[in-house]
Amino acid sequence: MRSLLIENLSEVATPLGTTVRAGEDQGRVARLAGAEVLCRDGSIAFVGSPEERRRQFGELPEVERLDGAGGTLVPGFVDPHTHLPWAGSREEEFAERLRGATYLEIAARGGGILSTVGATRAASEEELAEAMLPRLRRMLACGTTTAEAKSGYGLSLADELKQLRAVRRAGARQPVELVPTLLAAHEVPPELRADRERFLALVCEEIVPAVAEEGLARFCDVFCEQGVFSAAESRRVLVAGRERGLLPRLHADEFADSGGAALAAELGALSADHLMAVSPAGIEALAATGVVATLLPGTSFFLMKHVYAPARRLVAAGVPVALATDCNPGSSNTESMPTILTLAVFELRLTPEEALTAATLNAACSLGLGGEIGSIEVGKRADLVLLDAPNLLHLAYHFGVNPVAAVVKGGRVVLRGSALPPPPELT
Ligand code: NIG
Ligand code: FE
Repeated sequence: MRSLLIENLSEVATPLGTTVRAGEDQGRVARLAGAEVLCRDGSIAFVGSPEERRRQFGELPEVERLDGAGGTLVPGFVDPHTHLPWAGSREEEFAERLRGATYLEIAARGGGILSTVGATRAASEEELAEAMLPRLRRMLACGTTTAEAKSGYGLSLADELKQLRAVRRAGARQPVELVPTLLAAHEVPPELRADRERFLALVCEEIVPAVAEEGLARFCDVFCEQGVFSAAESRRVLVAGRERGLLPRLHADEFADSGGAALAAELGALSADHLMAVSPAGIEALAATGVVATLLPGTSFFLMKHVYAPARRLVAAGVPVALATDCNPGSSNTESMPTILTLAVFELRLTPEEALTAATLNAACSLGLGGEIGSIEVGKRADLVLLDAPNLLHLAYHFGVNPVAAVVKGGRVVLRGSALPPPPELT
């Protein structure tokens, strides 16, 4: 039996449970001073004091140990909204935006998503998988142990399949676990600009069935937004996905209130994402149905919009809130969940405890994985992050640094951030 004991921690900080935490529960986090964690066969077997561990398991002289060095242990971060499989880069558009152009203006003249579509179509499946690997390494270095990954830069049957197959390839080559989502309705491709109906039929009648048949995605997503796909068009795609076993989640009310939140509630989506422009009625609909609001403050920051999703109103209404990077080349070029946690505290005004729940248990639940990951409790998978921080508050308090000292995935130490050799002595 493979075992790992994580000891000498200042605290273990974790939300508790297997289902979403909402309202006041969003900020109820257990903080266990001086606790140890024992992992066995990939799962968490014990969380508690060293004395209690000795009483239950003995001295464990042979066991592999991870020295917590006075740090804080939190659940591995779950990043439930990324656009990871892309080719190319958009720093020139970024520079244009710095000179004053807006994201929507750039998109309107054929840049934006469509420029990444061009580069992604030109790449092979293997090239796409290889492009993902450095991104996944950075994710792991920043403490992410599970990430969702969307297609949506292919926009044709062959290219959407290629992206999702690349996700499967890259997932098998490194420790971050990937949850694939079909986002064929991310934009209308250039060749069908004049015939949206044909594109919608292609998505519903060809792409969705092919992806479901090959078992390439767990979720179906749509960019429901003014000027992209209407609520009615989004409903059609999400219902087609659901009929084939792809669960609905969606880009909702990012720039304008397009009825996305209400649609997520109507369809029983696991998650409604972005919500910068969500209406009071949209918030009520999410609260009434328990749909997770996945907030992406990196996008507000990167687009320099100075408009953030109404996180405090969502929490007050009882909507469970999750956090994600939205990692993509156009609107949020980061793999770092600690950066997102910083933005969540400073700009969304979540408390550090609420933000931790959002980046772990609620994010896991938004992917349907709350029973397996997202908290440090006996029976859950041992996906853990050791922070070089004396307590949870430092995750927000000490900003702009990577706080990750080590990452444990399925009970194995897969990354040691502090394992760098010391610099040579100056003579
Ligand atoms: O979530 N909103 C739509 N899709 C992405 C942007 C993708 C891109 O610009 O390439 C987002 O922000
Ligand atoms: Fe997105």
